[in-house]
Amino acid sequence: MSKNFYVTTPIYYPSAKPHMGHAYSSIVADFFARFKRNDGFSVQFLTGTDEHGLKIQRSAEKQGMEPKEFCNLISKTFKDLSKTLNLSNTDFIRTTEDRHIKSVQNLWSLLEANGQIYMSKYEGWYSVSDEAFYQEDEIETKDNKKYAISSGSPVEWVEEESFFFKLSEWEKPLLKFYEDNPKFILPESRRNEVISFVKGGLKDLSVSRKTFSWGIKIPSNDEHIIYVWLDALTNYISALNYPNTNDDLYKSFWPADIHIIGKDILRFHAVYWPAFLMAAKLQLPKRVYGHGWILSGDEKMSKSKGNILDPLEIIDVYGLDTLRYYLLKEVSFGNDGNISQDKLESCINSDLANNYGNLCQRVLAFCEKNCEFKIPTHNFTEDDLKILKPFEDIDKLRNLIDNQDINQYMSFIIDMLFASNKYFNDQEPWKKKNDKDRLNTIVYTALELIRKISILLNPVIPDTSLKVLNIFDISKDAFSLEQVKDHNFLKKDIVLKKLEILFKKIDK
Ligand code: ME8
Ligand code: MG
Repeated sequence: MSKNFYVTTPIYYPSAKPHMGHAYSSIVADFFARFKRNDGFSVQFLTGTDEHGLKIQRSAEKQGMEPKEFCNLISKTFKDLSKTLNLSNTDFIRTTEDRHIKSVQNLWSLLEANGQIYMSKYEGWYSVSDEAFYQEDEIETKDNKKYAISSGSPVEWVEEESFFFKLSEWEKPLLKFYEDNPKFILPESRRNEVISFVKGGLKDLSVSRKTFSWGIKIPSNDEHIIYVWLDALTNYISALNYPNTNDDLYKSFWPADIHIIGKDILRFHAVYWPAFLMAAKLQLPKRVYGHGWILSGDEKMSKSKGNILDPLEIIDVYGLDTLRYYLLKEVSFGNDGNISQDKLESCINSDLANNYGNLCQRVLAFCEKNCEFKIPTHNFTEDDLKILKPFEDIDKLRNLIDNQDINQYMSFIIDMLFASNKYFNDQEPWKKKNDKDRLNTIVYTALELIRKISILLNPVIPDTSLKVLNIFDISKDAFSLEQVKDHNFLKKDIVLKKLEILFKKIDK
């Protein structure tokens, strides 16, 4: 089995500064990247910005700026956010970079050479906000204005000469591919949506524009620029040095293991992207996961509703690891979820401060007083082996992650935290001062539990979990998932270190 793993986020439009929805996709992708890295995989993790097209051109014009100058400014806020979120991305791609332009032009020429492109005329609806073409039956009229039903975005009528991609030819091959690869699109409800869309019939797709100029030129015709979605999707291979398919990066990491996206852009990733790749005779990604919305209150966030949640504000008040923990635990992955101050504060108080924080603090304090702050000796009894046992089945955890079952993974950790606190209570080591051997073993077992849980929590709360691992002198890159199985990992020559308060409880 290959020990390489490639995960991507969407590349975001730098049309306005990033919001919580962008932070969510990125944190989820980072969670998978970190888990796999801890499990010994070599990981590529890509994020970036999608800078061409009419949407960006118009946003720049509104600010009275040149598109490139505007993109430089906003793209930087996305790059800064990736640092603030402590993302472990290995690359950040901008579609205005030469490496990407070359890659897109190359893919275009290949599609052309394979007889997949022809010239005609596009007449129909276009949403600049979604950068998407819509059929008549996908449009509704409100107050005399036309909108796309699925996204609610305004549409405008477009009539212009355009190159088309023979998408209709790929209807059957796509349906066969979905059938042969039942987990290509997840969650399952989204898969069904895509399949019925494709079964409804695919029309050829307009893939060039000539009435504006902010985009990548078609190599064989410089009056046209390439449709921004064909441009954008290609980023996933540009970053692996496509068109050099002999390059190590490309050979090791394509096809991608998983594209993490929101459900709004499923059609582009689950229909157009695999069709382009099939037409170019390139391999298809292994999975596309379309997650749900982060709602603000009960509504989708949008600039026009003025209900945008700013990740920076939440991080400022509650801390990054609290936000990461909240998004991974409280949102049922695949479904919509919302952020409320009340639920955020409960996460800190009950899970992070009371459960994890408390376990670490009380065990360490006890160890300092009774075991000279050293790793004590141990002589396991049945009780100890019983509490340690669930950590032996790390294949179960690997499976959860490979099925993107984030919530079950989190439940396992939370159950283990409760069980560990209960173990320490029930064993009453403070009553064992006359049985040093037993007292030592209880402390040893509790320290092992802390170590194991901290490794499992590392992809969720990287900073805090590292602080805890550091008390055992375990540093970044010096631990692995495999070590969770080992019950005799801690050795007596380790001198423990003091631990600062991890999470401060909030008065409600
Ligand atoms: O669509 N809840 O970029 P975009 C959860 N450039 N996730 C959300 C969200 C919300 N409320 N709002 C946005 C584009 N997202 C294209 C992508 S990829 C080749 C090109 C996340 O800036 C979610 O992942 O509109 C969604 O799919 C993405 O941001 C859309 O970002
Ligand atoms: Mg969008």
